[in-house]
Amino acid sequence: MAQFQENARVTRIEELGGENYRITVDCPQICKVSHPGQFVMVRTGRGQDPLLRRPFSIHQTSAQGEMQLYFKVVGRGTDILSHVRKGEILSIFGPLGKGFRLVKDKPAVMVGGGLGIAPLLYLGKELCRLKIAMEGDTIILGARNREELAPLVKDFQQFGFNLFTATDDGSLGHHGFVTEVLAVVDIPAESVVYCCGPEPMMAAVAKFCHSQGLTCQVSVESVMACGMGACLGCSRPAKNGIYTHVCLNGPVYNAEELVWNI
Ligand code: FES
Repeated sequence: MAQFQENARVTRIEELGGENYRITVDCPQICKVSHPGQFVMVRTGRGQDPLLRRPFSIHQTSAQGEMQLYFKVVGRGTDILSHVRKGEILSIFGPLGKGFRLVKDKPAVMVGGGLGIAPLLYLGKELCRLKIAMEGDTIILGARNREELAPLVKDFQQFGFNLFTATDDGSLGHHGFVTEVLAVVDIPAESVVYCCGPEPMMAAVAKFCHSQGLTCQVSVESVMACGMGACLGCSRPAKNGIYTHVCLNGPVYNAEELVWNI
């Protein structure tokens, strides 16, 4: 699969609340070959500081070659990135990893929590482009509160899926977890569930899907130093008894392939 290193110009920076940001960059080569669920490695600073690139899932691409990254400030790299200015150049490498396997002829259920919502916008867009909308197509989004979730909800409304929200404090949608919503919404038996979020959330979704006989794909997060299979920093146990490298074999897996430690 083709990969590119591009010097991408920042064209837009959005502060979305709750220390969440979305930046838009011009990187047409990467956009052209990328797929929902894949990620890019971004050099967030200048020179050697910070030394390592940071992984970001691809939030959205456009036909014009613009890519969006959605992130929360959680450390030095993301803090630097949150302060980039329009017109600055970022070195971006990708696309990397294996993304979601899009199933065109079955109802889709997307479940995202927190930053795990990031890759689902790209996924929803591609599912809409490829498949015939079906009764039962559903999106369930969760976050800590309205401030974090509301700016993203309108982006997901464009798909026409049944849309549900959940927040930890009850300020938008269901007061509680996305898994509680998943358990009560009407989902056709042949649905494919696409999930990304915190590990306990994905473990609960995987368990629910297993109990219902639903196919479930999960996009897992991992610490990544190289993003290319060279450092072993992203390894995690798989059901077959060997370790899988999230950057090469993931980040998207069938939920049944992984060991869930929750
Ligand atoms: Fe280095 Fe996966 S991040 S091997």
